[in-house]
Amino acid sequence: MTSKISGATKIFGIIADPIQHVQTPQAFNDLLLTRGVDGVLVPLHISKDDFAACIDGLRRVRNLGGLIVTVPHKVRMIGMCDEVTERARRIEAVNVVRREDDGRLVADMLDGEGFVSGLRLGGIEPAGKRIYLAGAGGAANAIAFALAEARVSHLTVANRTTSKAQELCARIREYHPDLRVDVGTNVPYGHDLLVNATSLGLRTSDPLPFDVSRLAPSSIVAEIIMKPAETPLMAVARSKGCLVHPGLPMLQSQIALLADFLKVGQ
Ligand code: ATR
Repeated sequence: MTSKISGATKIFGIIADPIQHVQTPQAFNDLLLTRGVDGVLVPLHISKDDFAACIDGLRRVRNLGGLIVTVPHKVRMIGMCDEVTERARRIEAVNVVRREDDGRLVADMLDGEGFVSGLRLGGIEPAGKRIYLAGAGGAANAIAFALAEARVSHLTVANRTTSKAQELCARIREYHPDLRVDVGTNVPYGHDLLVNATSLGLRTSDPLPFDVSRLAPSSIVAEIIMKPAETPLMAVARSKGCLVHPGLPMLQSQIALLADFLKVGQ
């Protein structure tokens, strides 16, 4: 694929820290090939400290088609964009940014749709389920809104920084006043579907995102981490007889949506 890169090739980037785990380049570059697009997506390792300077620079790169945004930049990126969709504004985070020819950055957030359609592809229907969501960052916000729209029966949000869980619950209530929403602890019992939307599990030294000591075999455990493909949380849940849903379908089911938003191959 790289041998086909020429001066006319359009560049796309995925920004993250850490970066080694990202699975998007393979999936997105395969799609570019399938769609016959002269483009390439490359990983860009950008730390939180360098974030603003890097985005200012990338905005000026004239053959940059756009960026896919992941940990830990999804929330902060919204403040760097010139235009965001109504959905991303509500979620207060973005995961895809299109660079227009004049350098304007236009963004959307597709993680929630990706997560819910990935669940459904895995045979799991969230409607009517009691959900425990660990995390209140960019991905968790998107997933919370998408689950609320999918008509779950009850949503509990738990996060290390409790104030962020409280803020997320307040925003969900604003848009979904009929949904039962509350802030939880790290003990997830009494729920049908437990979702890890934190970054815990990316590093081998990470603790589990919530208490699993009394996990019932009837619980479904869903992960958003894509690499490792089997996180410690997934392994424990499997050992307790739970149905386990991995992180990769969330990406697989949104890759075409990301490409459409970036206007490649249309
Ligand atoms: P993303 O945009 O991918 O969601 P993020 O916005 O940086 O990334 O969110 C990361 C999530 O993982 C947050 O919920 C974060 O908790 P805080 O809001 O308290 O920061 C959670 N997280 C990250 N490291 C954690 C850790 N060591 N222990 C518990 N939660 C952690």
